[in-house]
Amino acid sequence: MTGDQEFIEDSMHVAIIMDGNGRWATERGLPRTAGHHAGIRSLREIVETAVQRQIHTLTLYAFSSDNWQRPQSEVRALMRILAAQLPSQAARCVRQNIRLSIIGRRDRLPDPVLQAVQRAEARTIHGTALHLRLALDYSARDSLTRAAQHVGNNGNGDFLQALMRAYNADSPVPDVDLLIRTGGEQRLSDFLLWECAYAELYFTPDYWPDFDGTKLDAALYAFQKRQRRFGSVSV
Ligand code: IPE
Ligand code: IPE
Ligand code: MG
Repeated sequence: MTGDQEFIEDSMHVAIIMDGNGRWATERGLPRTAGHHAGIRSLREIVETAVQRQIHTLTLYAFSSDNWQRPQSEVRALMRILAAQLPSQAARCVRQNIRLSIIGRRDRLPDPVLQAVQRAEARTIHGTALHLRLALDYSARDSLTRAAQHVGNNGNGDFLQALMRAYNADSPVPDVDLLIRTGGEQRLSDFLLWECAYAELYFTPDYWPDFDGTKLDAALYAFQKRQRRFGSVSV
């Protein structure tokens, strides 16, 4: 696609609910975990395209707090994939000048995942081309509740600072400009409820393993056509 930069705003924040891995695999007669493996290819391509399009922040929903309710074998497989992929993804991030950080609870992550998270964050801390945030054991409601409790317990604290701390973010909470959900469902599933107050929503039936750079461009193009009013009137 040419003229791609035209549809990117300054400091654009794109968030993606990477859904549909299980159905992608089931439709091929494969175990659901094969879909999670296949999703890694999409993740790499989308991150590369995000850098090329000069997106400022990309937040990817990788594992929700409710996902712990899945069969143990699937949860274990997902945690193994994370522990195995984070080091190579971090190396890719260093090469591409990307800062990788993780939002969500850390106290329930298996040790190998937590260690991989900490190493990946430390290795990529100086990246400036893109801030890639992976949401792991993430629940917007849980973060909001804990932030509210923190502010309540400490008098008139700063709510956004408390929210940042609640999901272990190391930089301010950016509003989402464009929220993409793959896999055909049209819901938020407890993702970035606060940050999506004025997000443009884009739902696609494509399963996550089928989502590629061209499809991200289509979403960015659709975003460019939207008229954002933020409660005001268009001029
Ligand atoms: C998203 O794909 C990945 C995770 C939630 C970890 P799913 O595993 O939810 O795939 P579907 O929605 O069942 O097809
Ligand atoms: C949301 O997808 C979580 C992730 C993509 C990581 P789910 O598949 O868990 O959401 P529901 O259950 O369809 O709402
Ligand atoms: Mg799903």
